[in-house]
Amino acid sequence: MPVGKSEGGFNLFDAEERVLAEANALRDSLDHAAPEAILKGVDTLTEAYRRSVREQRRLVKVSDRLQNQLASVNQELARRKAEAEEALARLREAQETLVQAEKLASLGALVGGVAHEINTPVGIALSCASHLADATAHLRTLFEADDIGVEDFERYMDTASDTTQLILGNCERAAALIRSFKQVAVDRTSAERRRFDLAAYMGETLASLSPRVRQAGHKVTITCPPGLEVDGYPGALSQVLTNFVMNSIVHGYDQGQSGELSITVDEPVPGQIRLVYADDGKGIADAHKNRIFDPFFTTKRGAGGTGLGLHIVYNLATGPLEGSLAVDSVAGHGTRFILTFPRKAAGGILPED
Ligand SMILES: Nc1ncnc2c1ncn2[C@@H]1O[C@H](COP(=O)(O)OP(=O)(O)O)[C@@H](O)[C@H]1O
Ligand SMILES: [Mg+2]
Repeated sequence: MPVGKSEGGFNLFDAEERVLAEANALRDSLDHAAPEAILKGVDTLTEAYRRSVREQRRLVKVSDRLQNQLASVNQELARRKAEAEEALARLREAQETLVQAEKLASLGALVGGVAHEINTPVGIALSCASHLADATAHLRTLFEADDIGVEDFERYMDTASDTTQLILGNCERAAALIRSFKQVAVDRTSAERRRFDLAAYMGETLASLSPRVRQAGHKVTITCPPGLEVDGYPGALSQVLTNFVMNSIVHGYDQGQSGELSITVDEPVPGQIRLVYADDGKGIADAHKNRIFDPFFTTKRGAGGTGLGLHIVYNLATGPLEGSLAVDSVAGHGTRFILTFPRKAAGGILPED
């Protein structure tokens, strides 16, 4: 609100006009009656007051202008802030979408691995079945021609028992692979809590990844106390291991160079699991070590890297797994991640030991 016009009806400019009018009236009434010096004094005072009023009005105008400018600057600021907040919200949404995509991509690696792994037993079972069918057809021909000897029959019995053994064994292997993959895939997508055998579960996850590992020429060793039961989130753990292994394959070694990956589990304090994942590859540069868990930090931008893998791992380690994650790596001497988490997540159902 302009300074000259105040709210309670008091108007500064009007009051000044009134004072000036009163001064003029006083001057008129004094005219001729007062001595020259007094009249002069009144004139000087009135003139001074008039000048001060002019100056004051000028200042009021300047102040009004400044206030208007300030108001529009404030408006502009509020608009920019709203814009920035909206952009941030969109960015968060985009990041969440990318995180989901990265999780699906690593599930894709698992699916690919399992498909590859199931191919072998199914292929063997198929060729055994076809061999058995051929042998059966041959025996039938002999039988129909009434030309069957004891030897033919014995040979057929041997073939039949060998092939059915192989068919059974390989179908069991395929069924076991499907079962364990189904469990891993369900855990990964449902994020449900349950009790599980740590060593067996890590074995299942690694089995699904083994074609990728083998293809790269690496070897994986798992060292874990057998029968160690955990009550928590197997899906989170499987995701963490998948990302570690995929990172070793992608970042750890040059093309054609093979290495050793290892997972070592122990329980340094009862109830606390320590899982050390290590590879003996290139390691991580000192300058990168405290950035690798940041979203979008990647040294393979433009070459398939999203920089979200370890960000997801960190969130799973400190979120559902209720643990902590540290990296210990010296450039040129491999990479080590140390994941610590409780054997029983808070509110778990494992009996106290
Ligand atoms: N085993 C490893 N060996 C060497 N560097 C690694 C390893 N794991 C992770 N890194 C480094 O950490 C970075 C971040 O990893 P990650 O978040 O999974 O993103 P991305 O794999 O998409 O690059 C990688 O770009 C790489 O520089
Ligand atoms: Mg990665």
